[in-house]
Amino acid sequence: AIEKTLILVKPDAFARGLTGEIIARFERKGLKIVAAKHLTVTEDLAKQHYAEHAERPFFGELVSFITSGPIVALVLEGESAIKAARQVIGATNPLEATTGSIRGDFAIEIGTNMVHGSDSPESGIREAGIFFPEL
Ligand code: CMP
Repeated sequence: AIEKTLILVKPDAFARGLTGEIIARFERKGLKIVAAKHLTVTEDLAKQHYAEHAERPFFGELVSFITSGPIVALVLEGESAIKAARQVIGATNPLEATTGSIRGDFAIEIGTNMVHGSDSPESGIREAGIFFPEL
């Protein structure tokens, strides 16, 4: 099915100047950019976006990291977009992500893992609505 996924190019990736490289990988995979913006995430927005992790011990770190600097948010659309984007991104822990994936190629630590991608079609719609209420 045609799905939408919300991608965040996180502050670590943005600061390292890897935004273009990351977006290019999604485009090469065949996913279509249907929305894009540059922003700094507020604490409120971060807490909404990561609500499902609110009880985790690393929630504080998660919120402080994602709000720590500018990011790029994208909505990508395509056939099986959730799985396709997650394949391009690689496993959550960069040390378990395969070479050729964004996290496998560019990251080491789980907290600073370059990119977020929605984990289900429902999350894709929910998260895209948080970052792009106008959609
Ligand atoms: P993301 O796809 O943005 O969704 C939740 C994030 O939580 C995940 O990527 C990781 O960056 C982060 N995360 C998961 N586990 C841990 C952990 N043990 N310590 C710190 N951050 C984590």
